[in-house]
Amino acid sequence: MDRKRITEELKRRAEHDDADVRVIAQALIKSFNKKSDNWIEEVLKSEKMTIYKSTLEIVLLLEKIVLWNFLEELWTSFINNDKDFLKKLEKTRKKCKEMNFEGWLNIVKNISTQEALSLAGKPIQTHRVNRYYGIMRKLSIILDLKSGLKPLILLDAGSPSAAGLYAAKESGVRVKTWIALDKQETKENIAWIFTCSVRIGEISDGSFFKLLRSMQCEEKGTKIVRGDMENIPRSVLRLKPDIYIAQFSFYQLNYPQKAFREAVKAVRRQGYIIITDYIYNNDKNIFKILSPRRSTGIKSLVWKKVSDKWLMMIGTINWKDTDLKGGDFEELNRRQKVDRIKITT
Ligand SMILES: C[S@@+](CC[C@H](N)C(=O)[O-])C[C@H]1O[C@@H](n2cnc3c(N)ncnc32)[C@H](O)[C@@H]1O
Repeated sequence: MDRKRITEELKRRAEHDDADVRVIAQALIKSFNKKSDNWIEEVLKSEKMTIYKSTLEIVLLLEKIVLWNFLEELWTSFINNDKDFLKKLEKTRKKCKEMNFEGWLNIVKNISTQEALSLAGKPIQTHRVNRYYGIMRKLSIILDLKSGLKPLILLDAGSPSAAGLYAAKESGVRVKTWIALDKQETKENIAWIFTCSVRIGEISDGSFFKLLRSMQCEEKGTKIVRGDMENIPRSVLRLKPDIYIAQFSFYQLNYPQKAFREAVKAVRRQGYIIITDYIYNNDKNIFKILSPRRSTGIKSLVWKKVSDKWLMMIGTINWKDTDLKGGDFEELNRRQKVDRIKITT
């Protein structure tokens, strides 16, 4: 494990927009430098860590282990409909407001190696509903999704719940079927997903309730499918979605090119493929664009499947990541393109 890269990444997190992310990173830096808290060293040595593709993901795991220690009891109580949940929530909110560097350092110090190792290897399932709202709202205008004659069939690839449906509907998109495809089981993992997704500030100000509600959205037309987006199940292909969406899931894939081919296969003719992610560069070669490398830019790439052999790239939208500030993404610039790409399988 490259200590230098981990420290650099932690330092970047220590400059994050979110004050709690900053102090948690500072507490981790202190322990990591001192080599005083064994759990960090043990986690970094664990074989289970090979699932993470970047130093950022490794650092995010360390951060989530800290948050898990702080929040697990609250999430378990919520999931079990515990009658004490509101009391626990009030206590946690108070604690959240009081948390500072010393408080987080104390938590880091008290994490046991056993607890930390039980979380090593878990995928980082950040479910930023704010991102869905911001991006869906803008995309539905850009693509004119609201004005279609027929309600749409959408495939949301790499999404463990129908939170996307909740966001799309709020944006006015008419939905016939919303297929959320994920390799992870939501119900089994819900406490972990909350840990990955909810920010401390959102607990203090109460806005996390929106996330919990949307994660539990079970509206008519929803299909939650457990499966691999690199090998989309037949039951999904048969539905011939009008639109394929993948938000912040491509960067986690082992074979993004394979997933892209599957997206092309899944969507009906004249349908759209929309991938929003940390896109590496403006390279015209789609396979290079989709390599899961770290980058600072969040982009949506939009293609239309014009025939079984041709895709047309119809646009690139660059977003400013403002999901901490009300969930409305700012569009930095938009590039309309009409490149046709031959699909070779
Ligand atoms: C960072 S989360 C993004 C969740 C959601 N799209 C959002 O914007 O909030 C990435 C999701 O992709 C899923 N995922 C990763 N690899 C996958 C695969 N091969 N097939 C299906 N889902 C996958 C993970 O389980 C995780 O739920």
